[in-house]
Amino acid sequence: MSKKGSVFGNLRQLDGYAKTLDDFRVKTTTGASVTLISALIILSLVCSELIAYTTSTWRPSLVVDKSRKEKMPINFNITFPHMPCHILNIDIMDDTGEHSSGYSQDITKVRLDLSGREIELGESVTLGDPSKGVNKALQSKKECGSCYGATPLRDSKCCNTCQEVREAYVKMGWGMVNVDVIDQCIAEGWKDRVEKQSNEGCNIYGHLLVNKVRGNFHFAPGDAFQANNMHVHDLKEFVKGAPDGHKFDLSHTIHKLKFGPDAKDETETILAVTDALAGTEKNANQARVVYQYFLKIVSTQLRPIKGIPTFTNQYSVTQNDNFMKETATGLPGVFFNMDISPMQITYKETRKSLGSFLTGVLAIIGGVFTVAGLLDRVVYRAEKAYKKKVEMGKTL
Ligand SMILES: *[C@@H]1O[C@H](CO)[C@@H](O)[C@H](O)[C@H]1NC(C)=O
Repeated sequence: MSKKGSVFGNLRQLDGYAKTLDDFRVKTTTGASVTLISALIILSLVCSELIAYTTSTWRPSLVVDKSRKEKMPINFNITFPHMPCHILNIDIMDDTGEHSSGYSQDITKVRLDLSGREIELGESVTLGDPSKGVNKALQSKKECGSCYGATPLRDSKCCNTCQEVREAYVKMGWGMVNVDVIDQCIAEGWKDRVEKQSNEGCNIYGHLLVNKVRGNFHFAPGDAFQANNMHVHDLKEFVKGAPDGHKFDLSHTIHKLKFGPDAKDETETILAVTDALAGTEKNANQARVVYQYFLKIVSTQLRPIKGIPTFTNQYSVTQNDNFMKETATGLPGVFFNMDISPMQITYKETRKSLGSFLTGVLAIIGGVFTVAGLLDRVVYRAEKAYKKKVEMGKTL
């Protein structure tokens, strides 16, 4: 007992918070109100600290982009209300010299009527789709159609559909075939169907994979081919217009143009400008218009605390619409010129650690109490001094 007592007795020497005897303490109403007010202040500050702790923030950082060798996806959905699908083509050209035209992979063209409604593909058949029984006549005969001197594209060494002959011709750089004299085209009734489809618009959507270098992709009328090392589009059909006399034009509405996947949640749309052109609407009242969009593309990464990071691209746009004279030569179309920024933005979701939250709370409590104590003492002293003065005044 005595031993224990002495140990505690020695420990007592270390008490940094020596207590005053209760008898000497005085409770004042000002003291009570200071305590109350400081408690309220502490409560509100701790609350705001708690909110800051539970909500996360996104921090952007800028570094040099090291992923530039990768391919970049283009994810688009564009409607051309006055362009039939069969005249509309997509081409990609880039600085590496890679050039793909008539790109059809992962791209869907939806035929629209002039009021913008989707045309039901019942009996009517899409142009150039041999699987739909267009060329029944030829298929049943199991004949090998002639390519009229062009090298066939497919392994079959035959051109069994009008489209195959057309493609083979384009590949040879011979320009367009005259559909009036090609047996396949006559058998398919190509001309009739082209005419029937002229009062239509086209919604085109899908994905393209391009090299992540400077380049452009464009939507232009007519099949494209290489002739004398030049990129040429066959504009005959486009310029001629529909048989009923109405003209095609390149009016368009961009529903979506992104260089990355569709947004998983709205965080992306709040943080980053990944779909700057969405909702753009252009009206051309003539055939020969060149719409140019100059895009500056910045790689962007979103790294949430939980879940997998999103790799996408942001871009900013400048535009130029050039209405050419009807006699001008030059390719009408909608051009997207892409320029890739060497920098990459990473948005990282961060949250305060528990340690810093506790530190913050303790700092608030300690700080408020210290200041309140100081204030209380000053008020108490002033009160005492005032009372003394008043008493002295009475005795005098
Ligand atoms: C393309 O955009 C139109 C208009 O917003 C929409 O109705 C259509 O569903 C979209 N197509 C795709 C494949 O997202």
